[in-house]
Amino acid sequence: MLWIQVCKDDELVDGQFRIVENEDGDEVLVARAEGELLAVLNECSHDRRGFDGGCIEAGLLVCPRHGARFCLRTGKALTPPAYTDIATFPVKVEKGIIYVQA
Ligand code: FES
Repeated sequence: MLWIQVCKDDELVDGQFRIVENEDGDEVLVARAEGELLAVLNECSHDRRGFDGGCIEAGLLVCPRHGARFCLRTGKALTPPAYTDIATFPVKVEKGIIYVQA
């Protein structure tokens, strides 16, 4: 897996996320939640569509369609109607730029 450039570190404020695509066409959601940079597959395990339009609440990713909550650190599906966990990815900051390995 390659390191993909996301954005400048100071462009991603707490409680927000960016979505990038890897070379296989998979979308990865990179978030800053409670001060921590975290990344998961941008695909809700309930309907396999992305989290665009969703939000982060109390450090958890909330699906915009039926409200399932996912742990951004582990990818664990925490509330129905999603029951399957989603993949997570490493994130780093180098010289003020955020990268995700996906
Ligand atoms: S599509 Fe995400 S909870 Fe239903």
